[in-house]
Amino acid sequence: MEIIVFGGGYVGLVQAAGLASTGNEVTIAEVDDDKITQINSGQAPFYEPQLPELLSKGVEQSQLRAVKVGSDEFDKRLKSAEIIFIAVQTPESSDGSADLKYVFEVVDTISKLPGDLSDRVVVMKSTVPVGTGDAVENRFNTHGKNPIVASNPEFLKQGSAVRDFMQPERVIIGSENERAQELLSYIYKPFMLKRERIICMGRRSAELVKYACNAFLATKISFINEISQLAEMIGADIRDIRRGMITDSRIGDQFLFPGVGFGGSCFPKDTISLVHQGEKFSVPMRIPQAVDQVNKRQRTWALLNLKDIFKELKDKSIAIWGLSFKPKTDDLREAPSVYLIEELIKAGAKVRAHDPIAIDRAKTLLAKHSSKIQYFEDMYAAAESADALVLMTEWHEYRSPSFKKLSEILKNKIILDGRNVFGPEITRQYGFRYRGVGIPENLK
Ligand code: UGA
Repeated sequence: MEIIVFGGGYVGLVQAAGLASTGNEVTIAEVDDDKITQINSGQAPFYEPQLPELLSKGVEQSQLRAVKVGSDEFDKRLKSAEIIFIAVQTPESSDGSADLKYVFEVVDTISKLPGDLSDRVVVMKSTVPVGTGDAVENRFNTHGKNPIVASNPEFLKQGSAVRDFMQPERVIIGSENERAQELLSYIYKPFMLKRERIICMGRRSAELVKYACNAFLATKISFINEISQLAEMIGADIRDIRRGMITDSRIGDQFLFPGVGFGGSCFPKDTISLVHQGEKFSVPMRIPQAVDQVNKRQRTWALLNLKDIFKELKDKSIAIWGLSFKPKTDDLREAPSVYLIEELIKAGAKVRAHDPIAIDRAKTLLAKHSSKIQYFEDMYAAAESADALVLMTEWHEYRSPSFKKLSEILKNKIILDGRNVFGPEITRQYGFRYRGVGIPENLK
């Protein structure tokens, strides 16, 4: 099929490269020249495992290309595209609602095509508030155009996006139109040879499913984080509580890892967006509201513990392992580490940071604090002479470090484990003071 994807960002790129891999003719429509050059040379503008390989393959086999919006090649590709995905960014406006200006720009561009466009399927891929499909359809109508507008939310996780695309747990098609269902089922079928997992529903329902899923997963995380706070006060071990919970198959074992709070471009933004959408329809979204509040509190975990241990953080040197909001990505959006670093610097401390991938991005994002942060290529070098070590992201390389080495190089033998990867059992053997999330220091 001939497919065009507007937006070579995270969602658009994985979508385009994935669909090109099964023999579709896919074009990415972009406005950013650098991105276009990168994509056409088989590189991803961000770190995502397996994506460069998939992109290179698509480009080499001429199944995939990026073109500039407005170019002759773009016009040609748009004219023949049967399915048009919209995967452009929808930034937060000052009042917290999603800004749809880029989406509408795309609608206006598509509307320049001749004819009524009733044979085209336009698919919203970006996460957008419920009712955006209607707004997009109305905008087309004002131009005298009548394409089929569908919603097809994405459920990819950063760090495993290619695998998630190739083996989706389900594909949701939000359209009651038969042609939309048929064309979209056709392009997703190759990814579900073992078991059909396509679910069709109305457009508004599809739009809401996306928020419901993200908010529910975020709820699980905030729930276990809140229980972990109680565990710390009571002197209980959250790891045992978690083990006791997850054996109940109704509860399940996923997204119940306590930590320093959820980050990224999705959970924080989508939870708040759901609260706003509820307000609009006078249905208070009390649970998502609480989830957000608990998460904001959880982000302070490491800072509060450091203050509790040192009382005064001025001139303290704190080593931080892990900057990205989760492993296998260089994304720092809403990363708990960024919050911690800013607070530490405000308190007069100095930071020694390590991350396997995200250092360059951190240098740019935190440029104004450059004199207070030192970055290290080697994780042990970051810990050298530091007053304490804080683990913020559970990258594989941090999971079984040499505690002997750490005990020799850290100034104080203090570890704050924001992801519970070490445990007091091993760290105590090396004489460390250890605190985990929901694992109190004086745990018997
Ligand atoms: C999330 C969803 O998991 C995807 O299904 C969805 O498609 C995506 O948002 C999106 O809307 O685009 P992502 O943000 O990439 O994916 O990452 P997650 O693996 O969900 O992790 C989000 C945050 O929760 C991370 O900061 C992670 O450290 C934290 N987390 C996750 C926990 O603190 N505990 C857990 O048990 C799981």
